[in-house]
Amino acid sequence: MKFILQPGGALHGAFRVPGDKSISHRSIMLGSLAKGITDVEGFLEGEDALATLQAFRDMGVEIEGPEQGKVRIHGVGLHGLKKPQHPLDLGNSGTSMRLLSGLLAGQDFDTVMVGDESLSKRPMERVAKPLRMMGAVIETTGEKGTPPITVRGGKPLHGIHYDMPVASAQVKSGILLAGLYADGETSVTEPAPTRDHTERMLNGFGYAISSQGSTVCLHGGGDLLATRIDVPADISSAAFFMVGASIAQGSDITIQHVGINPTRTGVIDILKLMGANIQLLNCREVGGEPVADIRVCSAQLHGIDIPEALVPLAIDEFPVLFIAASCASGKTVLRGAEELRVKESDRIQVMADGLQILGIKAEPTPDGIIIEAGQLGSGTVVSHGDHRIAMAFAMASLRSSGAITVEDCANVATSFPGFVELSNKVGLNIRAVN
Ligand code: S3P
Repeated sequence: MKFILQPGGALHGAFRVPGDKSISHRSIMLGSLAKGITDVEGFLEGEDALATLQAFRDMGVEIEGPEQGKVRIHGVGLHGLKKPQHPLDLGNSGTSMRLLSGLLAGQDFDTVMVGDESLSKRPMERVAKPLRMMGAVIETTGEKGTPPITVRGGKPLHGIHYDMPVASAQVKSGILLAGLYADGETSVTEPAPTRDHTERMLNGFGYAISSQGSTVCLHGGGDLLATRIDVPADISSAAFFMVGASIAQGSDITIQHVGINPTRTGVIDILKLMGANIQLLNCREVGGEPVADIRVCSAQLHGIDIPEALVPLAIDEFPVLFIAASCASGKTVLRGAEELRVKESDRIQVMADGLQILGIKAEPTPDGIIIEAGQLGSGTVVSHGDHRIAMAFAMASLRSSGAITVEDCANVATSFPGFVELSNKVGLNIRAVN
């Protein structure tokens, strides 16, 4: 599928974007492992979260829905999963595979996990290695520590302390999920703050988990008790419209019920440093997660040196932040973001290639990019099957001098079903063509 975008426009209206992807994955995982029935609202009906949902159905969990964001999970308890009949197919979803690696290490059956072309290239040793230290037997059977992954069951796990070399919420969460099945204490120290949805949700399921500074710690052998989960709208999906409204003159939007967990709000901080006009309205807490309505009006942005401390807090938003940088005045420099090279695509190279096609000076560096603002032109860019690259270039059309075609956009459905319809409703001009 490709997107064909006509240039110009402004964004208007009050609207909601789909549910948070990270929280949706975790709601299925913890709901399945809990005792009792967990009701979820606002669940993301995107392919990634649905891959997690299917994996748990394949392991014998009865799950009703999703229907209009509602899911009912009949939890089987920590020891109630059944051996799946086939390898678990996790599609494009790194979160599913890395979190499940930890969870499956605690089962008494063997499992194989596979993924699509992009997931099959992503590094899995980062989670397999600490899990082996806990006693797990895990093989990354791809060429370079990549999927498929085989997890052997029936191996007793013991708690460890792990100092994570990379700031990764997926690795942290994979270890904590294995820790539920381990003897004694499991603790993880992160080199920089990463999203803490697993910790918050474990707490919501009544599981004792403590954190001190950058270390989080739990003891194995407890129980999860079913609960209700209200999934807020995904700030990573809201980010496209936050940038769109900032760069398109005359825009004024309000994105409703967005999760503003402080481990996710780097995009707001970075845009504000660039001069964006963003207000958080009606701040409240919903089911242990902070939520707000986000109002964004257009503003003249200026280039900045992005503070490295904000990188993990905005890690999924850089593709669209690079579009903001292209429309700002002056130069924007990103450093300390080598992780972007191992996301659904090499987001540094793929964005630099696309920006250059559109006439922007974008120089990739090993751990970031240097972008000189300029006039976005027109042309055909390739998303390499990366949902966030496709949506970022869609926003570029708001300021381009001519039409933009974005190729390979089908994976937008992994995180943002209905993106084209919503975008057209609020002021973009996109046609999706097969
Ligand atoms: C996620 C963590 C991040 C993020 C991904 C979702 C999660 O990955 O990029 O989209 O839900 O834990 P890393 O842990 O690799 O940084």
